[in-house]
This record gives sequence, C-alpha cells and structure tokens, in this order.
Amino acid sequence: MSAGVRIALLGTGTVGSAVLARLGHLQSHGPHEHASALHLVAVANTRSLRLLPGAHQACMANDGNGHAEAALHALGTRGARIVVDATASDAIAAQHAAWLAAGIHVVTACKLGQGASLSRWHAIRAAATAGGCRYGDSATVGAGLPVLRTIRALQDGGDRIHGVAGVLSGSLAWLLSRYDGSGPFEELVEQARVLGYTEPDPRIDLSGEDVCRKLLILARTAGIALEADAVQVEPLQVDDVQRLHARASAEGRVLRHVARLQRDGDGIHARVGVEALDRDDPLAGAGSDNRIVIRSDRYLEQPLLVQGPGAGAGVTAAALLDDVMEIARMARSYEPAAAIAGLRTSAPRYSSSGRGRSMA
Ligand SMILES: NC(=O)c1ccc[n+]([C@@H]2O[C@H](COP(=O)([O-])OP(=O)(O)OC[C@H]3O[C@@H](n4cnc5c(N)ncnc54)[C@H](OP(=O)(O)O)[C@@H]3O)[C@@H](O)[C@H]2O)c1
Repeated sequence: MSAGVRIALLGTGTVGSAVLARLGHLQSHGPHEHASALHLVAVANTRSLRLLPGAHQACMANDGNGHAEAALHALGTRGARIVVDATASDAIAAQHAAWLAAGIHVVTACKLGQGASLSRWHAIRAAATAGGCRYGDSATVGAGLPVLRTIRALQDGGDRIHGVAGVLSGSLAWLLSRYDGSGPFEELVEQARVLGYTEPDPRIDLSGEDVCRKLLILARTAGIALEADAVQVEPLQVDDVQRLHARASAEGRVLRHVARLQRDGDGIHARVGVEALDRDDPLAGAGSDNRIVIRSDRYLEQPLLVQGPGAGAGVTAAALLDDVMEIARMARSYEPAAAIAGLRTSAPRYSSSGRGRSMA
C-alpha cells in the first residue's frame, strides 16, 4: 500500500472528468508540494470500477450503489484517505456521514450531503467530529468562490451573520441578464439548453431547487438550523418572465434570480425566486457570475460582496482539488509528529481541539 494520501473518485461525468484532468496536470506539471503525495487508487461510476496501483484489494461486487463501496474498500483501512464525490447521487450523499465516522475524509461537489435534510447535516457534522475528519464542501456553493470559508472565518472571529443574499445559479443569472424582453423567454431558455448552459432538462434549473440547497448550506454554515420546508421557493414561470421584465424595466429595475436569507427580530426569512432589483444593487450585475452579499456585525451597513464564476466543470474541479490538497497538507504536517509519538496505528486525527473542523 502506497504512503501519502489515497483517493477514491466517485463520478466521471462533467465534474469527475475535469477532476481527473486537473489532477493529472498538477501531478505531471508540478512542482506542487502536495500533489505528489496524492495517490488516486480507484475511480468509479455507475457502470465500472477502475483500480489503480496502490489500491487495496477490492473484491466487492456492485452493490446497487454504483461501484462506490468497492472504490471505498480500495482505500484500505489506514492512513489518510479521501473520497471525492463528483456524483449527484442521493444514495452516495447518504453515505457521507458513515465514511467520515470511519475516518475517511469526504470532499464533495454534491449538495445532497449538507443541503438536504437537517438530520443529514447534523449527522455529517457529528461524524466529522467523531472520525476526526474533514468535510470539504468548497465546491457546493459558488464552485470554490470564498463564500463558505468567509462565513466560517467571520464567525470564528466572533461575528454574527445577519443575512446572506445571492445570485447562486450561473444559468439563471445568464438567462435573466441576457433577456431583453423582445421575444418569448422560452426561446432564450431553449438557446441556453442547446449551448449547454442549463441542465438537459431546463425545468431543473427553473424549479429553483438546486439554489434552495445552496441557500440551506449557506444558512446552516451561518449557524441557522434551517429545514428545507422553511425556504419559500418560487419556481421561475417561463410564461411570466416577459410581463415581469416589462414591469421591472418601466420602474428602472432588472430581474434577477435571488436566494435570500435574513435573520431579524421576527425570526428567519428564507426565499428563493425572481426579484426586481435596483440597477445599483450589488446583485444586479450582468452575466453568469455568482454574486453573494454577506451581512454580519462588522459588515452591516456596507455588506461584503463575493463575486466570480460560480459554475462550470473547471472551477468546480479546482475547488474539489483545493480541498483535497488542504487535507494532504494537514496529513503531511501531521505525519512526523505522529511517527514520533508512535500514533500511526489508527486513522490520523487533525482536530487538536477534538472538534471536527470543516474546510472551505
Ligand atoms: N457541472 C457543474 O458545473 C457543477 C458545478 C458545481 C457542482 N456540480 C455538482 O457536481 C456533481 C456532478 O455533476 P456533473 O455535472 O459532473 O454530473 P454528471 O455529468 O451527470 O456525472 C455524474 C457522475 O456520477 C456518476 N454516478 C452517479 N451515481 C453514482 C453512484 N451511485 N456511484 C458511482 N458513480 C455514480 C455517474 O455515473 P455514470 O457515468 O455511470 O452515469 C456520472 O459519472 C453534482 O452533484 C452537481 O450538482 C456540478
């Protein structure tokens, strides 16, 4: 079994393929201090499992959950191990907590871990603590933009998050900023689908459910234990956009798809849907960028704005590998101390306080 950090990749679609390409590039076009310590030992999708040098003997058959369990088995039982989830599978996300509890770090692009039920969120947090493992979630909101890590850093510094608002869907941002009201919105949606800017079935984007999961992750990261049914989600009605656009234009405003979370005296307000914004609103910019406004004790009157490309295989894969590299860095800094202390008999523990600490 090879030393260093062993990795199993689940999913070889748009994001998984980009992870493989970027990892190969990092390792062959180094020098990158930690990339050489990464050993990809298994790659799985629903149809096949590829084992690479360093894989622990994986003899498990496809258990109906793709080849995921066999890929996990290939990680072995000791040392720094990471599973990278580049699937959109609820069955895989349901395993995150168990893998963490078993001492395996999880790095994920899938929002169904932390953005599904509150009980699953709690299970992941508790398991990360129990397993002394990291849960790399940088890719789940803003595809690696410094959003979740900023919210965590503000809270670590004693700040309370008062609200978060964002344009969190690149495809909906593109559609609404591109639409000029001259024809049916439906035609632009079809154009976006053909260009690959939306899901193959655009109704998935228009439903707002994916944005809702991102808002749930933001809320929970901000210390607000929000259940999915507490978010008011208003699907984008294609037939309605031309009328809404005309009304917004007459008022000197623009339409944007916004996720909004507000904590005030009345409680928590969470909503996902189309809004007519003033042109100088920080969320009103054009293009497909993600824009996230954070209000905290220190950024109350003048909020903090994070903006940049928040979707696409390239930035998502980079965010996943940022999290992987962070774990590799921690593993390497741990090793000498552990070796001296003779502690290498079990999975490494990176949390000196005993509190599992999330990445991003
Ligand atoms: N695409 C983006 O720009 C983007 C941005 C941010 C986040 N994300 C998130 O990243 C994840 C992947 O997105 P994608 O666009 O790459 O999806 P995709 O192209 O549909 O690929 C999904 C991959 O997951 C595999 N898979 C599904 N269930 C599995 C299972 N049980 N075990 C092993 N493999 C399984 C599929 O296997 P088969 O090949 O056999 O079907 C496929 O290879 C999603 O959660 C998505 O929300 C995507």
